[in-house]
Amino acid sequence: MNLAGKKVLLGVSGGIAAYKSCELLRLLQKKGAEVRVCMTEAATQFVAPLTFASLSKCPVYLKNGTMEARPFQHIDFPRWADLYLVVPATANVIGKFACGIADDPVSLCFMSCTCPRVIAPAMNVAMYNSPAVKRNLAVLREFENTTVLESPAGVLACGEVGQGRLMEPAEIVAYLEGASLPLAPVSPGCTKVGEPVEPSATPSPRGSTPKTPDASVLKTAELPPAQDPTLPGYGKKVLITAGRTEEAIDPVRYISNRSSGKTAVAIAATFLANGFDVSVVAGPMEAEFPGGVHVTKIKSARDMHKAVLEQMKNADVLVHCAAVADYRPKVAATEKIKDSRSQLILELEPNPNILRDSVAQKRADQVIIGFALETDHFKEHAAEKLKKSGADALLLNAPVAANSGFGFDEVRYTLIRAAVPANANAVQVEIPEMKMGSKIDLAQEIVDFSLDKLKNA
Ligand SMILES: Cc1cc2nc3c(=O)[nH]c(=O)nc-3n(C[C@H](O)[C@H](O)[C@H](O)COP(=O)(O)O)c2cc1C
Repeated sequence: MNLAGKKVLLGVSGGIAAYKSCELLRLLQKKGAEVRVCMTEAATQFVAPLTFASLSKCPVYLKNGTMEARPFQHIDFPRWADLYLVVPATANVIGKFACGIADDPVSLCFMSCTCPRVIAPAMNVAMYNSPAVKRNLAVLREFENTTVLESPAGVLACGEVGQGRLMEPAEIVAYLEGASLPLAPVSPGCTKVGEPVEPSATPSPRGSTPKTPDASVLKTAELPPAQDPTLPGYGKKVLITAGRTEEAIDPVRYISNRSSGKTAVAIAATFLANGFDVSVVAGPMEAEFPGGVHVTKIKSARDMHKAVLEQMKNADVLVHCAAVADYRPKVAATEKIKDSRSQLILELEPNPNILRDSVAQKRADQVIIGFALETDHFKEHAAEKLKKSGADALLLNAPVAANSGFGFDEVRYTLIRAAVPANANAVQVEIPEMKMGSKIDLAQEIVDFSLDKLKNA
């Protein structure tokens, strides 16, 4: 879409990212677009309407049914527009759009506009992942003429990491320029302000035939994730293993463990926030990855082994975070094992060692980080594992404190780095003290270590 000469209505709702709409407005103007603004009352607590009025050189549409709004502003503004952008879109207005509630300028304009609508959600990760917001966004994606932009993952204004950031204004503009958004299909009887009323049988006032938007163009899930060349990991790729594995006993039973996948999600989100291209090979897990992460789903340790060895050649950093089953049943029954109430002995055999085999294929410019979960003598065991594996570092975590480890956000951990001193030929390991921290702290330490290693590779 060529933005030059386009009339853009900018709807601003009450999220912390509202200030970014000022930058968006300026960028749109630089591209030659004319911009007008409507705001929710909550949005006016984040940015003064006077700012938008000054930038757009037009009064902002603020309140309904008061003398501050012209009587038909909720119709005039949308009808004037070639494009309605809602940036940022709060969970609240998204809910209203999806349900057909129109009790503020932004939701009223959404309902009464007939031009293409582009919505950029922005909110805390827990809100973004809440069932209500997910459902409402899914409903909006099905609306005609409506595009929902994918929220990138990253560090959020509240300090948490995950999906829910506002897409950067420059990226929104780049998206609009690349998208072949249709001109508004104007409904019979509707005219643009200042334009003559046309008989309903004639073509639309802009002479275009009303089109249904091409879904493939408007679905932005296929958009590449935000790639910011100023971020330290820009141009680098990380492959992360995640979740647990399931080792079949019979078609309905398996051996597994309690890994929730939360640590891998924190690691993936932190690499993403640092500009890396992030891929994961993920076993079953409860936690969900932010948008922009490429996920290969597997079930067993052998599936994970195969996928990792295939994909690692593309990676600069490899993080072995998955809780892989060390053993699997020697034979998986093809039929469900019947309950005979007599003793059943399962014979187990070792699974392939994914960390060791990936280190065997490692290039000199790659960084590999293993994980060790120990419940006793953890320092000795972890040091031994690091030396044997040949990895660059090992994240040792020990679920020994109450409320830490599987499924929780806090973990007891330390990152052990392998070093070969100049005058020695064996790997030396010094284990820093274990500490309690969030999975995000742990992830940040892994990212910092990887960046440091890549710089010196
Ligand atoms: C400091 C602060 C920041 C907020 N940031 C967001 C946000 O980024 N996204 C969101 O959906 N809600 C956010 N909220 C909550 C909304 O402001 C609140 O749901 C409000 O009712 C939204 O109104 P609106 O949708 O009419 O603008 C925030 C609230 C506060 C106090």
